[in-house]
Amino acid sequence: MGQRIDVNHLNIYYGDFLAVEDVNINIEANKVTAFIGPSGCGKSTVLRTLDRMHEIIPGAHCKGEVLLEGKNLYDKDVDPVAVRRDVGMVFQRPNPFPTMSIRENVLAGVKLNNRKISKSDADDLVEWALRGANLWNEVKDRLDNPGIGLSGGQQQRLCIARAVAVHPQVLLMDEPCSALDPISTLAVEDLINELKNDYTIVIVTHNMQQAARIADYTAFFNLKAVGQPGHLEYFTDTTTMFNNPQNEEAERYVSGRFG
Ligand SMILES: Nc1ncnc2c1ncn2[C@@H]1O[C@H](COP(=O)(O)OP(=O)(O)OP(=O)(O)O)[C@@H](O)[C@H]1O
Ligand SMILES: [Mg+2]
Repeated sequence: MGQRIDVNHLNIYYGDFLAVEDVNINIEANKVTAFIGPSGCGKSTVLRTLDRMHEIIPGAHCKGEVLLEGKNLYDKDVDPVAVRRDVGMVFQRPNPFPTMSIRENVLAGVKLNNRKISKSDADDLVEWALRGANLWNEVKDRLDNPGIGLSGGQQQRLCIARAVAVHPQVLLMDEPCSALDPISTLAVEDLINELKNDYTIVIVTHNMQQAARIADYTAFFNLKAVGQPGHLEYFTDTTTMFNNPQNEEAERYVSGRFG
């Protein structure tokens, strides 16, 4: 089952620069929540605070709370490595490990977590993750071939398989389809739609049609002016966001009359 995320009064910094201001959002379990908004408004930054990846950048930090099923990820007793295991991340460009086979790529996260598993358990896990990522039938006869030998869309599904192989509760995706052709994009969207049965999903997208197709809820982030911090302007169910938004800026943005 997925877990819910509650963000309270989150301020996110790069050094002294306040990049995103006072975010409050409740992300429901087993739903797809889309983050949309103009470039630089902080979508990726907010996403990376949800699995403590933000603080990897020197000087980057945040204030406020991110509760995963009620537990603050930023409490002193929380191990960020464990957080990144519970909350998986899929990036914009598919990034399979170049020296690894398809099979090794799927198992990479599990090995990083130092989990010892038998050959037959590993086989089962590889099949389960690749089936979950809708890729099994396309690769089952060439699991020992290099992961980078796959098409872009297949590589992205391989990265999703690698992310789900560690059994995360939450899957964060930062523009996962932006490097993909339309057919691969639809394959990944179908997959996201299935994955929400098991995971809570947050996806950043610049594609309004995509948000309308796959998201249950949509968060519109905005920027008052360049150099100003981004903020969460409007958050609602996706139908309202695209058909009847009760926010002028959001209305202009989703109808393409922004800027
Ligand atoms: N590594 C960094 N160091 C310093 N500032 C950064 C860094 N990454 C992002 N920022 C700043 O934080 C703000 C938010 O950036 P972010 O990348 O989160 O925006 P975004 O909404 O994801 O944009 P895009 O749609 O272009 O991906 C911007 O002002 C950006 O310049
Ligand atoms: Mg971004």
